[in-house]
Amino acid sequence: MADTKPRKKITAAELAQHSTDSNAWMACHGLVLNLSKEFLEEHPGGPDVVVALAGKDGTQDFEDISHSDSAREWANKLIIGYMKGTEEEESERKVKIVPKHAEAARGGGGGGGLGAFIPAVLVLILAGAAYFFLNKS
Ligand code: HEM
Repeated sequence: MADTKPRKKITAAELAQHSTDSNAWMACHGLVLNLSKEFLEEHPGGPDVVVALAGKDGTQDFEDISHSDSAREWANKLIIGYMKGTEEEESERKVKIVPKHAEAARGGGGGGGLGAFIPAVLVLILAGAAYFFLNKS
C-alpha cells in the first residue's frame, strides 16, 4: 500500500519543472512519482528511459512495458502527489495506487470484462426460459 505521507496536488506546470535526473517527477495513472536517485540507479530498465519521461506523463510507456505487480508496488512507494484534475478525479487520486497489471490490462477498471458479461448471459438465459414457458401451452 502507499505510505501515509500526505499527497500534494500537482499541476502540469509544476510537474514539467521536475525534468532532470537529479530532480525527476513522472505522472503515472494520475499520480505523481518521485524518481529518486536510488530508484533511477536500481531500475532494471536503466535510468535513461525513465529520465526521458521526467516532467511528463509516463503512463503509456509504463504500461507498454507490461510492468509486473512488484514493479507497481515499487511505484506506489514513490508516490508524492496527484495531478490536478476534476473534483472527482482528485478525490480518487488522493487515495488511489498504481493499478495492478491485470486491472491496467482491462483498461483501468469498471465496466467491461466478465463483470458485464455475466449479467448479459443471465438475461439471455432468462429470456430463453420465458420464451419456452410462454410457448408451452
Ligand atoms: C516509475 C515507475 C517505474 C517502476 C517502479 C519500474 C520498475 C521496473 C521493474 C521492477 C522492472 C523489472 C521487470 C518488472 O518487474 O516488471 C522494470 C523493467 C523495465 N522498465 Fe521500468 N519501472 C518504472 C517506470 C518505467 C518507465 C516509465 C519506463 C519507460 C519506458 C520503463 C522501462 C522499463 C524497461 C524497458 C524494463 C525492462 C528491462 C529489461 O527487462 O531489460 N520503466 N521496471
